[in-house]
Amino acid sequence: MRVLVTGGAGYVGSHTLLPLLRARHHVLVFDNFSNGSPEALRRVKQLSNADFDVCAGDIRDAQKLEQAFGEFRPDAVIHLAGLKSVGESDRRPLEYYSQNVVGSIELLKAMQRHHCRKIVFSSSATVYGEARYLPCDEEHPTLPLKPYGRTKYFIEQIIRDWSSAEAGSSAVLLRYFNPAGADASGRIGEDPIGVPANLVPYIAQVATGRLASLRIFGGDYETRDGTGERDFVHVEDLARAHVAAIDHVARSPGCEAINVGAGSGATVLEMVKAFEKASGMPIPFTIAARREGDVSRSLAAARKAESMLGWKAERDIADICETAWRWQSGNPDGYGNRK
Ligand code: NAD
Ligand code: UD1
Repeated sequence: MRVLVTGGAGYVGSHTLLPLLRARHHVLVFDNFSNGSPEALRRVKQLSNADFDVCAGDIRDAQKLEQAFGEFRPDAVIHLAGLKSVGESDRRPLEYYSQNVVGSIELLKAMQRHHCRKIVFSSSATVYGEARYLPCDEEHPTLPLKPYGRTKYFIEQIIRDWSSAEAGSSAVLLRYFNPAGADASGRIGEDPIGVPANLVPYIAQVATGRLASLRIFGGDYETRDGTGERDFVHVEDLARAHVAAIDHVARSPGCEAINVGAGSGATVLEMVKAFEKASGMPIPFTIAARREGDVSRSLAAARKAESMLGWKAERDIADICETAWRWQSGNPDGYGNRK
């Protein structure tokens, strides 16, 4: 199929391109490079030994979208572009609603104009908010706690409404749990600008000595060791889930929300220990206050992904730590010159 990938130059996007290209899909990356890197795309081309098109543009730019859709004529869209910092979304909510929600509407309008009726969207487990029961299945009520999560919730609703109105349409809303790790090659990985907000890239930078020590946000949660628990899903597994979702939208109409998680959890302390083991480096840490807006535990029921997409996670937290370390130690400045 011809697949337009918004946000393809970012962390999840660059990893998703690899199995997509290996499955011989034709790809156009549409990205404004606000948080993505041309170097990541260059390395994806090298790793896959395949070529693809790139269009530098913003998803809120209707003219640029028109040009991309007109020239590439996609059969389907994987929509990953957007802003993703939960803390920043508190401070700049309108920017988040504009980039994420308005951008998604512009994208759907372009799809409608060009009779492109298949979409796979990057949603997040954050739409569930604090879990009422665990593991969280897709029927769990949605009550996101922060503007970022609300943008995901609104986009899900908008895609559902679009899908009901658009005959023959098909959508998969992938609710990622906690993506982490890097491609096994260590050539592409997560390259946050500035100090990482997420756990694994933060630990990785402590391991290289770039950051002095980890602050663990909260030691008094009701978990095995008092630290928060998350369902970490290897980014290579997550990447495969997108290809499975593309296969699904190609053959089945409707709109489905599907969890993408490993179905098992690790606490922050367990991640620290796993990273020390994988890297052979000490990870000094202190226990700090809870981070505002954090849930205590998050765990996916991953049965729907298995039954509907034939997908399940194959890698564990040891693989996550090993590959994150390979990427971070081999590329201590990430893709370089972005900080
Ligand atoms: P990322 O920031 O690495 O990638 C996003 C990409 O989108 C970047 O290349 C950026 O340049 C591009 N982009 C941003 N705004 C754009 C715009 N207006 N127009 C065009 N391009 C734009 O983030 P990621 O971690 O790869 O996440 C991808 C998607 O998955 C996001 O929608 C994110 O909300 C969602 N998600 C990520 C996680 C995670 O932990 N990484 C978890 C759940 C959901
Ligand atoms: C957050 C968002 C989620 C988003 C994801 C990726 C919430 C509720 N969820 O997930 O929507 O998709 O980021 O952007 O905000 N931790 C530390 N020290 C650190 C960093 C993190 O102790 O320096 C802890 C956190 O408190 C948490 C765990 O590590 O318990 C995971 O944190 P993080 O990687 O930021 O992911 P989430 O908060 O789960």
